[in-house]
Amino acid sequence: MLVEVRNLSKAHASPGGGKPVEILRDLDFELDAGGTAAILGPSGSGKSTLLNILGALDFPDSGTVRVNGLVPSELRGRELVDFRRRSVGIIFQMHHLLPQCTVLENVLVPSLADRRQARLNADANAREMLDVLGLAHRLDHRPSELSGGERQRVAVARAMAGAPRLLLADEPTGALDRVSATQLAETLLELNRVRNVALLVVTHSRELAERMQQVWQLVDGKLVKVS
Ligand SMILES: Nc1ncnc2c1ncn2[C@@H]1O[C@H](COP(=O)(O)OP(=O)(O)OP(=O)(O)O)[C@@H](O)[C@H]1O
Ligand SMILES: [Mg+2]
Repeated sequence: MLVEVRNLSKAHASPGGGKPVEILRDLDFELDAGGTAAILGPSGSGKSTLLNILGALDFPDSGTVRVNGLVPSELRGRELVDFRRRSVGIIFQMHHLLPQCTVLENVLVPSLADRRQARLNADANAREMLDVLGLAHRLDHRPSELSGGERQRVAVARAMAGAPRLLLADEPTGALDRVSATQLAETLLELNRVRNVALLVVTHSRELAERMQQVWQLVDGKLVKVS
């Protein structure tokens, strides 16, 4: 099992300083290595909150999360950085590319703190991944010079740069037209097939959801399997 979540609960502080609002409540979820799953759910139901926890950008209040044999909340310092780099890759709801950096630089950002040899490897990997994603001719462009679909592919390349076992994608096609959305879905599924990276995709698109092996719905703080 690549992802194992048991009794996960998470509350967010309410803006007025009142009682924290419970977003995820005793949530269970699992995903096999190389598997694919979609998460549907209304706005505000906690989908991004869950993805942030799986990516170790946020931590549970209670319950256990195990990804790739590791418990993110037990990791410290370098281990946590390595987890974020090599166990998971995240494609954010907004692409979050750095506007002042080129395409290649954006993909290399996560490796900036690496030692010299690792940085050289990262550079080669980044170029290869951008080539696979059809962006080899765009290495020196800035995000503002790219189409929405191209920007999202750069975000995919950045997420894949550390060769993660799990790719988390938060509404990856939300801002794209139909054709670009279909292309991006193809890209994600091909990475799943060829690189055996598991996919967990948050989406409002039924069409994208139905291409995943499992479909889950986030309701009342819990994940319910729809198919
Ligand atoms: N850092 C935070 N502090 C306080 N409240 C937060 C924080 N992050 C999210 N929330 C609240 O938690 C709830 C769930 O947010 P989340 O972003 O996980 O929803 P979502 O399902 O991803 O929604 P959407 O489909 O609109 O992206 C929302 O009510 C949101 O306002
Ligand atoms: Mg969200």
